[in-house]
Amino acid sequence: MIVNENIIIINCGSQFTQLIARRLREMKVHTLIMNWDASAEKVKSYSPKGIIISGGPDSVNDPGAITIDPKILELGCPVLGICYGMQLIAKILGGHVIEGDAREYGVTSIHKTGGNSLILGENIPSFLNVLMSHGDYVAELPKGFKATSMTDNKIISSFEDKERKFFGLQFHPEVINTEQGNYIMRGFVFNVCKCSGDWKLSDWVEDTVTAIRDAVGNSKVICGLSGGVDSSISAALVHRAIGEKLQCVFVNHGLMRLNEPEAVMKEYETIGLNVKYVDASERFLKELAGVTNPEEKRKIIGRLFIEVFEEEARKIEGAEWLLQGTIYPDVIESGTKKGSALIKSHHNVGGLPEKMNLKLLEPLRDLFKDEVRKLGKIIGMPDEIVNRQPFPGPGLAVRCLGEITKERLDTLRAADAIFRDELKKAGLYAGIWQAFCVLLPVKSVGVMGDSRTYSEAVVLRAIHSQDAMTAEWSRIDYDVVDRVSKRICNEVRGINRVVMDVTSKPPATIEWE
Ligand code: XMP
Repeated sequence: MIVNENIIIINCGSQFTQLIARRLREMKVHTLIMNWDASAEKVKSYSPKGIIISGGPDSVNDPGAITIDPKILELGCPVLGICYGMQLIAKILGGHVIEGDAREYGVTSIHKTGGNSLILGENIPSFLNVLMSHGDYVAELPKGFKATSMTDNKIISSFEDKERKFFGLQFHPEVINTEQGNYIMRGFVFNVCKCSGDWKLSDWVEDTVTAIRDAVGNSKVICGLSGGVDSSISAALVHRAIGEKLQCVFVNHGLMRLNEPEAVMKEYETIGLNVKYVDASERFLKELAGVTNPEEKRKIIGRLFIEVFEEEARKIEGAEWLLQGTIYPDVIESGTKKGSALIKSHHNVGGLPEKMNLKLLEPLRDLFKDEVRKLGKIIGMPDEIVNRQPFPGPGLAVRCLGEITKERLDTLRAADAIFRDELKKAGLYAGIWQAFCVLLPVKSVGVMGDSRTYSEAVVLRAIHSQDAMTAEWSRIDYDVVDRVSKRICNEVRGINRVVMDVTSKPPATIEWE
């Protein structure tokens, strides 16, 4: 593919760098992210239409703080500095950056300071709420610059040099909490850099397929498939690049939903993937027997998964690469990017032992979930895979509270299938982020026919979410809930009571364990 126009993002270590890239992709503009130490010649060799310098965790005045090649500001190309990027521009061009008395983290109000700004133009309201996250600020403007907005604390929140087309924003236009952020970025990209916006996600597919083909050469790639969106779409993408040189392994741990392993294998067959099915369910259930502690369950499952996968991987000769469906939020949450704190260790980011000696292939590493879903559609993945609800790696183990037995799992599977079936029939399933049942190790008294029952209870859990970090419980129509409840009690042996989880996240989590 010939890319006619690029915006280069110089990454100074911000958590939001990939979000800037994502915003540009949404504007249909091709983007390249370069590390802060990229030379001006390297940047120039890509003939960028504009350059964005990201935020970063440092303070520009610290000894050893990240800085950029100053010659980048002599390339004659429009430059937008965001937060730390703005301060770097100011410092390099002779302005003055100082440490503020009051740090500004969170949403702050700013007001335009008049003048005919190129990116805070007439269509932008005079007062805006924006997301600030900084300690330092520009106290003295470099020559040729003008402040275009100020905070209520009289701190310069944006500046520009119209002549040289240099812009600085002390706030983050790439996050949704900043009012008009997208509009301000569009002003830079389209009005200043004159991009045409003719790039497409399908171009990304083409480029990535070529890059995978070049990197892999004649070696083989192995991949552990889970049936989930990310691993399935990465596998389909790599399959497009190298065909049969991709060997996938699907480990059935016995903790999948009703008929799921068969359905998933069938879908993989339709796509043409080369998948080895490994039934390790007995092994998993044996090691889980008697275990009730949630963390212990998770640890056993994680360890066994790796053991089984390693055993299978060793049987594949000539494998040099391990394909993983890592997506960008996994990378951020695992704290592997400079400046992002560890939130949760995801099993697919560096979780496998080094002795396997495989190189990692992670084609979706820079994309967000909804982009991955769009990509899946572009490469022709079936809707069942593209729109599949997230399902935890430890599967039903974290939904079967108390002891895990084949019998209790079957009970849970049957109830869960009814819940999802009724939601689908009511046309509600596709609009829900996750809907599932949880089996409780709690018995209560009931009456069926003329007999007393003493059986376990099942919980209906359905939530809406954007990113699973927070969630709101779904207000499902009571008639649908009633149908689900009646069917579960009538059709599933071992259940005599159905309850509904009406807790959001926080304070609860989505899964029960
Ligand atoms: P919680 O329960 O933490 O779940 O609110 C947030 C999201 O993550 C999913 N989840 C997991 N996904 N491995 C995964 O791949 C796991 O161990 C795991 N635990 C929870 C959960 O289904 C929800 O979408």
